[in-house]
Amino acid sequence: MASVSVDEAMRRAIELAARGLGTTSPNPVVGCVLLDEGGEVVGEGFHAYAGGPHAEIVALAQAGLRAKGGTAVVTLEPCDHTGRTGPCSSALVQAGVGRVVIAVPDPNPVASGGAATLRAAGVRVDLGVRGEEAEAGNVAWLTSMRRGWPYVIWKYAATLDGRSAAADGTSMWITSEAARIDVHALRGTVDAVIAGVGTVLADDPRLTARNLRDGSLAIRQPLRVVVDSSGRTPADARVRDGAARTWIATADEVGADPDGRVDLSALLAALHQRGVRAVLLEGGPRLAGAFLEAGLVDKIVGYVAPRLLGAGPTALVDAGVTTIAEAIDLEFVDVTQIGPDLRITALPRKREG
Ligand SMILES: NC(=O)c1ccc[n+]([C@@H]2O[C@H](COP(=O)([O-])OP(=O)(O)OC[C@H]3O[C@@H](n4cnc5c(N)ncnc54)[C@H](OP(=O)(O)O)[C@@H]3O)[C@@H](O)[C@H]2O)c1
Repeated sequence: MASVSVDEAMRRAIELAARGLGTTSPNPVVGCVLLDEGGEVVGEGFHAYAGGPHAEIVALAQAGLRAKGGTAVVTLEPCDHTGRTGPCSSALVQAGVGRVVIAVPDPNPVASGGAATLRAAGVRVDLGVRGEEAEAGNVAWLTSMRRGWPYVIWKYAATLDGRSAAADGTSMWITSEAARIDVHALRGTVDAVIAGVGTVLADDPRLTARNLRDGSLAIRQPLRVVVDSSGRTPADARVRDGAARTWIATADEVGADPDGRVDLSALLAALHQRGVRAVLLEGGPRLAGAFLEAGLVDKIVGYVAPRLLGAGPTALVDAGVTTIAEAIDLEFVDVTQIGPDLRITALPRKREG
């Protein structure tokens, strides 16, 4: 096989890492490519699930003795601690790897230090190759580890005129089946799904990740979280069925904001403590407004149907904006047609001051 450059190997490692998206939490996604002394690929690996072997260990096992004197190209700094598996830094040293190329340093204080251990053992370490690309592939995990609360994606569905339901309250279904299938795939990539008690009372949603064609449940289910200040979620609500774990987060348990409602920052901190790194905020409009007003939304995914209602509730209510200068400015980063609908992905622009 022909030799490949370190840059090409990192691009491949980033591709490999992405295969773990949705199954590694609370761990990051990581990919690794091992090159022998001549630059030939002798091992590839990615972290597939928490508790499973790390990317470097999978690649080392493939490479065997050919790892000696070679280069490990890895998307995240190799871990330096013994958790459910041993430290990758030591495994690389023991295998006789001569150089380790890392895209992004590990922000997790428990696991970081791998680069220092490798250098102390005489291994050449280079940092920052395709760093931005690797960062983007791991954005939820990296963001949540750096700041101590999960990455929040607000998802909503609306008509082209921004309505989330008709004037008489009927809302099922605003968007097409294709868009709803896409939402279930999105649910499968996060650790928790959050809805306000208003949505639970109005729609009685299941909030599970399912195959919409046959109703079967995805193997991995996000934690269902109902934000419910005073515990109004009915005993027979579908979110309480046994299909997935559910947390009815009350103000008593989480802490209250000045209005006596669930304190959203405290809620996110509590979820982080439970190992939640990425959440899908599924509304409704009041809870989404409160999250946006508090600056707690990292990404917005809007499913827009080619329909008009002209009346009825809007997708977002009271985000603390009273004048145009206070508008929450966004940057559109992707527009994809899903069946007849558009899926628009946007990032809130950082506010000055
Ligand atoms: N189109 C869409 O994408 C979409 C998605 C979801 C829902 N919906 C629609 O939205 C409607 C329900 O809207 P909604 O606004 O009443 O429901 P919601 O946003 O799901 O729930 C709002 C409730 O959350 C509770 N809450 C607890 N802590 C809060 C906090 N810090 N900030 C804000 N709220 C907090 C409040 O009730 P307590 O004070 O009792 O806790 C509040 O009334 C339904 O008709 C549903 O169909 C549409």
